[in-house]
Amino acid sequence: MQNKEVYDELVAKFEKMYGAKPEIVAYAPGRIEVLGNHTDYNEGYVFSAAIDKGTFFAVSASADTSCELTAGDFMETAKFDIASVAPAKEMTWQNYVTGTFNWLFDGEPAKAGKGWKGMFLGNIPLGAGLSSSAALEMCTALALAKLYGIEKDRTTLAKIGQKAEHTFAGCPCGLLDQASSMYGKAGALVKSDFRSNTFETVDMGPGVAFMMVKSNAKHALVDGAYASRRQACEDAARYFAGVLRKPVTHLRDVTMAEWVLYRGGLSETTAKRAVHPIGEDERVLQGAALLEKGDLKAFGALMYDSHESSRNWFENSCEELDAIVDAAKAIPEVYGARLSGGGFGGSCCLLVDPAAAEKIAAQITKEYKAKFGDEPVCSVISPSDGAHLV
Ligand code: GLA
Repeated sequence: MQNKEVYDELVAKFEKMYGAKPEIVAYAPGRIEVLGNHTDYNEGYVFSAAIDKGTFFAVSASADTSCELTAGDFMETAKFDIASVAPAKEMTWQNYVTGTFNWLFDGEPAKAGKGWKGMFLGNIPLGAGLSSSAALEMCTALALAKLYGIEKDRTTLAKIGQKAEHTFAGCPCGLLDQASSMYGKAGALVKSDFRSNTFETVDMGPGVAFMMVKSNAKHALVDGAYASRRQACEDAARYFAGVLRKPVTHLRDVTMAEWVLYRGGLSETTAKRAVHPIGEDERVLQGAALLEKGDLKAFGALMYDSHESSRNWFENSCEELDAIVDAAKAIPEVYGARLSGGGFGGSCCLLVDPAAAEKIAAQITKEYKAKFGDEPVCSVISPSDGAHLV
């Protein structure tokens, strides 16, 4: 079992707190975003992977309508009744779980009839842009669905987690994080199409790995930056729907050539925002063809292009992430590097030759430290299986 030490700790803490072993335990991994940035809510394409770190959720039914939820790392407990599930302003970590519970019952959790006692514990570093919150939603969704005998497919459960983010956590995210956690496969990338919501896996082959480099820059998607980027994309899609003689509902429908011809009608800022997901969609499709041919160097070059687009057009990078990517470019065993996830801090994702991992980490750490004084955290990531019951 992956992350067995976390599972063992959770089960022991659960038993101590609630007096018996949990009836059900589910696990869900975090994710890395490899190519295709801010394309999910524009109904575009993404390459991502589930990672080898994740979160476990352990749960048992309670005898009445009361619920207890404990964060297993700092052992804080929230108590509520199935009839009073609502977004919390304090101990806001509970919102990912209560939001998921709420939408599992279509917004009427009182219909659950009985409450539950739950506890979660994971090992995904927080604030790293590795989607610890989506992992928590997905293990909650699997465990509670099992507890209540609810049968829903993985995409529906992913959407329930996304709805929890929107309404309980206040982040208007796309479906990428939840879908990657659900559909990950060991040794493979997940290629998502967020128009049809189809999720394929593509084997990576040997001789290549990912390294995540966590900057120490702030990463907070709940503040306004993510929402304002999403808004600009939606404004641009509405504009293109008006000027192009074809149906446009999202930026997925707009080509780079059309952006070049018609961008003049948009404000400078909105035009800059719009070109990012448009270019990213093209890069993911090119990347898919390159992966089929096994051309990892060319795939890596697209990752560098993706970062340039973030840096210059979408402006969701920052000095620390730029410094990591610039340092990576000088190392021949790094094939590509880019920011991963929402941006504005968090981590960069590097495509690397695993044999050179130590050298790469040392070189990047040295350069980062010389600039910012502190050290980034470098870890080699193996694409792993998606969420499952334990
Ligand atoms: C965050 C969001 C995702 C996606 C990425 C950017 O991770 O939660 O839905 O939009 O940013 O690609």
